[in-house]
Amino acid sequence: MNLKIILLLYVSVIISNLVVVADDIDDLDEATVEVEDPETVDIPYKSPIPTDPSKIYFAEHFDNPSHFAKKWIKSQAKKEGISEDIAKYDGEWNVEPAQRDALIGDSGLVLKSKAKHAAISSLLDKPFVFKDKPLIVQYEVILQDGQDCGGAYLKLLSNLEDKKSLANFHDKSPYSIMFGPDKCGSDHKLHFIFKHKNPLNGSVEEKHCKKPQERLEDIYSDKLPHLYTLTIQPDNRFEVRIDGNVVNSGSLLEDFEPPVNPPKEIDDPNDKKPEDWDEREKIPDPEAVKPDDWDESAPAQIIDESATIPDGWLEDEEKFIPDPNAKKPDDWDTEMDGEWEPPLIENPACTEAPGCGKWEPPLIDNPEYRGKWRAPLIDNPNYKGKWRPRKIPNPDFYEDKEPFKMQSIAAVGFELWSMSKDIYFDNIIIADDAGVVEAWAQETYQKKKMKIVKDNESLIQRLAKLTNEYPILWLLYIIVCGIPVAFVLYCCCRPTSKPNQEQEELKRMAEKKKTDEATPDTVEDVPEEQQEEEDEKGSEEDKKSKHPIRDEEKDSGSEDEDEDDEGEESANVEQPPPGQSGEGDIPRKRKPRKE
Ligand SMILES: *[C@@H]1O[C@H](CO)[C@@H](O)[C@H](O)[C@H]1NC(C)=O
Ligand SMILES: *[C@@H]1O[C@H](CO)[C@@H](O)[C@H](O)[C@H]1NC(C)=O
Repeated sequence: MNLKIILLLYVSVIISNLVVVADDIDDLDEATVEVEDPETVDIPYKSPIPTDPSKIYFAEHFDNPSHFAKKWIKSQAKKEGISEDIAKYDGEWNVEPAQRDALIGDSGLVLKSKAKHAAISSLLDKPFVFKDKPLIVQYEVILQDGQDCGGAYLKLLSNLEDKKSLANFHDKSPYSIMFGPDKCGSDHKLHFIFKHKNPLNGSVEEKHCKKPQERLEDIYSDKLPHLYTLTIQPDNRFEVRIDGNVVNSGSLLEDFEPPVNPPKEIDDPNDKKPEDWDEREKIPDPEAVKPDDWDESAPAQIIDESATIPDGWLEDEEKFIPDPNAKKPDDWDTEMDGEWEPPLIENPACTEAPGCGKWEPPLIDNPEYRGKWRAPLIDNPNYKGKWRPRKIPNPDFYEDKEPFKMQSIAAVGFELWSMSKDIYFDNIIIADDAGVVEAWAQETYQKKKMKIVKDNESLIQRLAKLTNEYPILWLLYIIVCGIPVAFVLYCCCRPTSKPNQEQEELKRMAEKKKTDEATPDTVEDVPEEQQEEEDEKGSEEDKKSKHPIRDEEKDSGSEDEDEDDEGEESANVEQPPPGQSGEGDIPRKRKPRKE
């Protein structure tokens, strides 16, 4: 019985079945979507209204296009210092529903374009002044197309003269806080940067928050809505949450780089290490002397004088001899290729002998070997410890105990560049009260999540219902589960006589499946048993016997198999003589072509 052929047939039956069933399901799916009662999946949604407007500085749900058009301004700026054609902020923004699982009536702001600078911003309803109330910023992001490289952070802009300057929003526009996700390659970030003004000379510097403890990979790849919340308290404590879970927290005074406050003292730049400062903890003992019997010249290895030539060693035979069966190729051009010489082969006379050619006794470790003498190390009596420059008061020192008191925030905006399109933003809120922000999330983000869970459930239910109505689907499930079972059976039931060739064969078949390479038709008019025999010997055997090839071609052939064969035979065979290629194959004798 030829199992391979059966398996092949089985696989092709499976594939044709899959195609048929998949077609069926496509049709069924379309049909069921039409009869589906939308009320069973719907989460009722109303654009949120902040519970206490007095605590709100900004709240935007993007559900009202005319309101959006009045409030938000697209940047017309050009980025400085780069070439004209890519400098423009011409990224495309749109207000539209999310691509998947959108609530009815819910829209967001979407960055449609990729690989373009894009900026958009809006004035706050009232400026946020950092005094005695906390600042809470929250918004949603869906990376609908994942994220290769790019940001989805927002900026809280400061120092704005008027609404007109929003049209010129660019990367250097002054901001107080930058917050949100940013990723490039395997660098997954969640920025929290604030700007701090030096009280001595008024220069402004970015302070970057330490990295979150949590792994952030998922938020960039799962294409689900995520909620980002930043809270800063007037006592400088801060907290960063994703989807309500704290992922980073600390203090503006302690957890930022560079630190808000410079060190009180610094190394004196004018202090130099004295000439005689000895930093060596240990030194060679100056009193130690080399023992008289210490012979530094004794070699590490010597010839084993007790060794004798093994019985049967053939000193008069060469290890390699010219192949007596080799013939000069017909197309050999002595002008071009040089004088033809037959390739060398292992001397058959040596295969039985322990060795051929001149015998040399082996080397052994020299018991007299001492190596170079070195004095032992002792504690250095003059050791003064590691030198460090003297400390002096830092001339730039200041102490700002209230870095919370940043520049007032006048506007909020996105200033982005992304290699992935369709970044969806929604439900931005800036407030000074945690309860108001939490209530806003209940009306927005939490409903989105409910909708996703329900849509997911109904998909599974729909599949179950479909299977009840169309039991042909069971065939699909059985077939899908059947493939690995068939393979296991196939491996276990085969005769175990030639395991290596079988492995080889299986590997080849798996490779073909993987690469969808055309499978050559192996069925010929040969009796079954003989057929199997030949298959297992493999094509390598075939090539050797039926189509003799020149040794040049053989060299470039599949090296793996050659090496395996060669490995066992050549275990006690020595290296080919110098000048021959040592590729583990039968040494080549063709001379290099003259240039
Ligand atoms: C202000 O001082 C800091 C060091 O404390 C320095 O790095 C910065 O360059 C100074 N800025 C100006 C405008 O002098
Ligand atoms: C959908 O439901 C399945 C099974 O209940 C669950 O494993 C999966 O995580 C759910 N997916 C989402 C996006 O909620």
